[in-house]
Amino acid sequence: MEDQAIALKALGEQIAVCPKCALSKTRTRAVPGEGNPDADIVFIGEGPGFHEDQQARPFVGAAGKFLDELLASIGLNRKDVYICNVIKCRPPNNRDPLPGEIEACKPWLEEQLGVIKPKVIVTLGRFSMTRYFAGQAISRIHGQPRRVEGVMVVPMYHPAAALHQASLRRTIMEDFKKLPGLVQDVLAKEQESEPVEPEAVQMQLL
Ligand code: URA
Repeated sequence: MEDQAIALKALGEQIAVCPKCALSKTRTRAVPGEGNPDADIVFIGEGPGFHEDQQARPFVGAAGKFLDELLASIGLNRKDVYICNVIKCRPPNNRDPLPGEIEACKPWLEEQLGVIKPKVIVTLGRFSMTRYFAGQAISRIHGQPRRVEGVMVVPMYHPAAALHQASLRRTIMEDFKKLPGLVQDVLAKEQESEPVEPEAVQMQLL
């Protein structure tokens, strides 16, 4: 935990001064991400908006308020999970991230995930979904966990979309309800496949 916190902090400091794409010239502050360095669940959004860019914190605007509610609905809060974005700097006027910007930012996200090693990754919206499920439609695959590169990934609608469309609000709430059980399943499977310690075998034989 301590080592993970140190590694994430060091990454955050590098991200804060990252010069790798043109967004570095227009950002107020980069938004590396925040939360539990040893989180079971990592949420990946799209990119910082106005408030995030001002505060250097992810999901602090209206969509973030809804994300807080969604977390509370499953008994969690921001400190339990890790929250970050596909791109770490705000695109001007909140336009969609460009492919080159996503590509330039990709190593930061990969390094963060490599440090945290979450049990479950939740993608929020289509830009983070594409990282794991290229060419798929969110309307078809939302809420359906799938193992990708050894990690369980659940694509979900972006909370901002749910704010604009009431029916999606219910959908994303239902999808969130699956998360605690999914984390438990992954943990149980990992324990099943862990090699039994010789001491434990001896105890069983006694
Ligand atoms: N939307 C995102 O995708 N990320 C944020 O950090 C805020 C809003």
